[in-house]
Amino acid sequence: MLRLCALADIPDNDARGFRTAQGEVIVARQGLAVYGYLNRCPHIGIGLNFQPDVFMDLSYRYLQCANHGALFRVEDGFCLRGPCHGQSLKSVPLVIEKSIVWLINE
Ligand code: FES
Repeated sequence: MLRLCALADIPDNDARGFRTAQGEVIVARQGLAVYGYLNRCPHIGIGLNFQPDVFMDLSYRYLQCANHGALFRVEDGFCLRGPCHGQSLKSVPLVIEKSIVWLINE
């Protein structure tokens, strides 16, 4: 397992990026839950963000592609709007142990 960060390092309803052997992983937080995805859009395979750690839309409800404005649900990475509508970000398994976020299978 790879230690990514403390849960408290990610503000609630926000996300952070982490470099891993699989590429950058986005970790989005909602309360005590975290959701991990490869930072690779399902339609052309590029990263979602222009600026480091800026992954959310203005409402902080959805992950957003900075290139196209596509919106992805935090809970399952499903694209609700945009060129990859109906596709999903590739999820990566995370676990929280003693308030530390770990990437499994790394
Ligand atoms: S790169 Fe696919 S929606 Fe922007």
